[in-house]
Amino acid sequence: MSGSRKSRALFTSRFGVIAAAAGSAIGLGNIWKFPYITGVYGGAAFLFVYLAFILAIGLPIMLSELIIGRKSRKNAFGAFKKLAPGTPWRFIGSFGVGAAFIILSFYGVVAGWSIRYIVFSLTNHFHNSSPEAISSTFNAFITSPGEPLVYQIIFMLMTGAIIMIGVQKGIERYSKILMPLLLTLILILDIRAVTLHGAYDGLRFLFKPDFSKLTYEGILSALGHAFFSLSLGMGTLITYGSYVRKENNLVQTAIQVTAADTIIAILAGIAIFPAVFAFNIEPGEGVGLIFITLPNVFMQMPGGYIFSIMFFVLLTIAALTSAISILEVVVAYFSEELKMKRNVATVFATILITLLGIICSLSLGIFSDVIVFNRNIFDLLDHISANILLPLGGMFIALFIGWIYGRYKVLREVAHGGKLKGQFLKIFMVLVKFIAPIAIFIVFLKGIKVLDFLVTFIKTVIF
Ligand code: PFF
Repeated sequence: MSGSRKSRALFTSRFGVIAAAAGSAIGLGNIWKFPYITGVYGGAAFLFVYLAFILAIGLPIMLSELIIGRKSRKNAFGAFKKLAPGTPWRFIGSFGVGAAFIILSFYGVVAGWSIRYIVFSLTNHFHNSSPEAISSTFNAFITSPGEPLVYQIIFMLMTGAIIMIGVQKGIERYSKILMPLLLTLILILDIRAVTLHGAYDGLRFLFKPDFSKLTYEGILSALGHAFFSLSLGMGTLITYGSYVRKENNLVQTAIQVTAADTIIAILAGIAIFPAVFAFNIEPGEGVGLIFITLPNVFMQMPGGYIFSIMFFVLLTIAALTSAISILEVVVAYFSEELKMKRNVATVFATILITLLGIICSLSLGIFSDVIVFNRNIFDLLDHISANILLPLGGMFIALFIGWIYGRYKVLREVAHGGKLKGQFLKIFMVLVKFIAPIAIFIVFLKGIKVLDFLVTFIKTVIF
């Protein structure tokens, strides 16, 4: 979807908007990243902090992005230029392009893994394998220098082709059927997982919080993941909002998309953690958690062969509907701001992002000893984009709506197609003016250790 079309096509149905926004939100973030970081940061306590961020920060910022998009009828850059001409607010768009570029580089790598697992499933590769064998297959695969690149490139070609041919709408229509199917499959996996011997420990890990396990890095990651999972902070939903009809109730859309995204993540957690404990897998295993856990579950269920193929096909499609929304941000920037032809912009962006992705992939294998700020390149790029760029982008979006756009215009914009009742409007304004920006700022400073540094600095200088 581009903001450059003369007459802008609008979503024809309410469900069209929700499906497109949910298609962007629901992806690897829910099914791969959420369980993996919940495992790394200690389970339930992380989940509860994440949920609090979703409600207090994610939801209001999602509504803010939709308002900015629908009001301006522009992409992320054009939107700020139009709503606050001649001001530096348009630089929010730059955070977005930076974040989109980086996110898609490692996103493409993991989506490639998902395609590899379709092939593993088709050949029944894990038949009768032990949990240890499944784990070493995964590790051998992601650390090998060639194979993951092939699958990553296939995925990036698919993403670029969809943007180039302009069939996003087709994909959205498609995902209206496939997303509910993915949900059904996850529910079936949930039933299998919670009936495994030892499942209870996994449920306790996911739902019984032990806040002493929480670290500041965990809190920062929960914040970053709220943005990542809801596709916020880089203007994706500004672009989608720009295609929404005036009659659409934005408040309802924001609530529905947030709810769907969060429910899928929690259901994915319920499918993973009971199995993690049942098969004696380490919850803090890392990036491979679902790829190591799920083949064990599929082996333990009737029809596991078919379910496994379906699951990885649907996961790849969910990744694709998210990836096109990420690539679109970069392409819109190249074509509308840098005045490149759209097709040239698409090819150019896809190639550059794929190249960065290749470095990400190799950083898990032959480049694994390249460590920057204690992280390999894959983790570093994930950290910079999700935990730094997206929250900062979101903070500025909240400040813009709260302080520049203001209560009166918000009320007028959301009044189309629905009302934000007095009380809710008040809460919303407090959230975007104060709570969200301040919370992001504090978590951010503390999480990237600037606050610790300042405190130590002041202590040593003063005392
Ligand atoms: N929300 C997507 C996911 O959870 O997989 C990832 C994503 C899409 C992040 C679009 C950011 C974005 F703008």
